[in-house]
Amino acid sequence: AITNNEFTYDRVKNISDWILNRVDLRPKIAIVCGSGLGGLGERVQDARIFPYEEIPDFPRSTVVGHKGNLIIGKLNHIPVICMQGRFHSYEGYSNALCTLPMKVFKLMGVQTVLLTCAAGGLNQSFKVGDIMLIKDHVAPLLWTLQNPLIGHNDERFGPRFPACNKIYKKNLRDVFHGIAEKKQIELQEGVYSSFGGPCYETVTELRALLQMGVDAVGMSTANEALVASYCGMNVLAIALITNKAVIDYDSENFPFHEEVIETANRRASDLQELVIDFVSKIN
Ligand code: 6GU
Repeated sequence: AITNNEFTYDRVKNISDWILNRVDLRPKIAIVCGSGLGGLGERVQDARIFPYEEIPDFPRSTVVGHKGNLIIGKLNHIPVICMQGRFHSYEGYSNALCTLPMKVFKLMGVQTVLLTCAAGGLNQSFKVGDIMLIKDHVAPLLWTLQNPLIGHNDERFGPRFPACNKIYKKNLRDVFHGIAEKKQIELQEGVYSSFGGPCYETVTELRALLQMGVDAVGMSTANEALVASYCGMNVLAIALITNKAVIDYDSENFPFHEEVIETANRRASDLQELVIDFVSKIN
């Protein structure tokens, strides 16, 4: 499935109804857990867990560090729907398929989507373990036929020509900054770039991104943010800087997945606390 033609309104509605028929809660907030950040799913109370393979038309999670469960329950008494593991281009899924859950959330009545991801830090003032709010993205795959909005447009999801300058809502970022300040957790804000992966970028690619004003680079999130925003949902996106992007041609360092997971595990509790407070605040 390349274009969104495959995922008609009726087919997405079918998935949404399948889920809603099995739970009483009606969450208005959805959370997507990135690499190594699935622990948040374990903190969901009164949880109803749907492995992706049980959900009609859902793809599977194939990546180490991504569990593959849709969880509906409560965080601090607030109804949430949580994706423990997401879908990536490098798994062989089209962006239309990767972002299918956003359309399902829309039809379930979700109003706010909170995306999390691991990312390599390009901004030289960032440290490994920093948490960065995403304020904008550069996503070359979305400049191509891999844009998930290509194909027939159903206005019940969103407009044919959506604007992209207000995807990452300023008011939500402001709320999140307030929470981080209160908890005395340092919070960065910047531009995220996503590539299809699974390889990390070359030194020259990263230097070009740095020149463009990119602060962090990953393999997800921009596609989901685009579709969620197109569907009229509010988006907050958080990148955890799990490693430094290597921009020195002769460096002996290199990025690797185990480091990404390890940093994510180390910083998971701070991130979870921030997310739980954020959910409580915006509810
Ligand atoms: Cl350096 N690049 C990409 N594309 N994704 C990453 C990363 C780098 N570090 C963690 N995830």
